[in-house]
Amino acid sequence: MSDLMTWARERAAAFLEVPLPRRWAHVQGVADRAEQAAPMFPDAEGELLTATSVLHDVGYSPEIAKTGFHPLDGARALSEATSNTRLVALVAHHSCAYREAELRGLSAELTEWVDEETPLRDALWWADMTTSPDGEPVAFDERIKEIQQRYGPQDVVTFFVRQAEPELRGAVERTEARLRAAGISYE
Ligand SMILES: [Fe+2]
Repeated sequence: MSDLMTWARERAAAFLEVPLPRRWAHVQGVADRAEQAAPMFPDAEGELLTATSVLHDVGYSPEIAKTGFHPLDGARALSEATSNTRLVALVAHHSCAYREAELRGLSAELTEWVDEETPLRDALWWADMTTSPDGEPVAFDERIKEIQQRYGPQDVVTFFVRQAEPELRGAVERTEARLRAAGISYE
């Protein structure tokens, strides 16, 4: 395991394992997904993808959940722990976070980081959007449905997912096309 991945796993475990065991299971599943996609990228990028996958939801940790908007809380906490601004920006913008930031009135805060809009970023979104809350592989449509059921019709997360669905689906479809082109099985 690379130094970056060892560090990322340790940090993610410290934030999530005890207070949020289900979230910890989810991020480990997302990291497994990311490992499937990692061979599409040069080694250092594949490592970045996997490290970011295990860290993407640390902002749910009660220790650092300051605004209640987990991509922002996670990015802020990680920016104090690493100088890897690309990793922090990927966490800040994971899975269409800018749309939820708009709904929460936190867009200005999120613009501290830029969404790189690359195949690597698509692969992170794909890994998150095709992994269940328990860390199992799941189809995108099922994942979207489950989120809306879990949060309920009145929750801001449900509004967010409805608005973000086309962009999330785009990242998923682009990544799956790239995986097929690379001959990587991801079912
Ligand atoms: Fe998340």
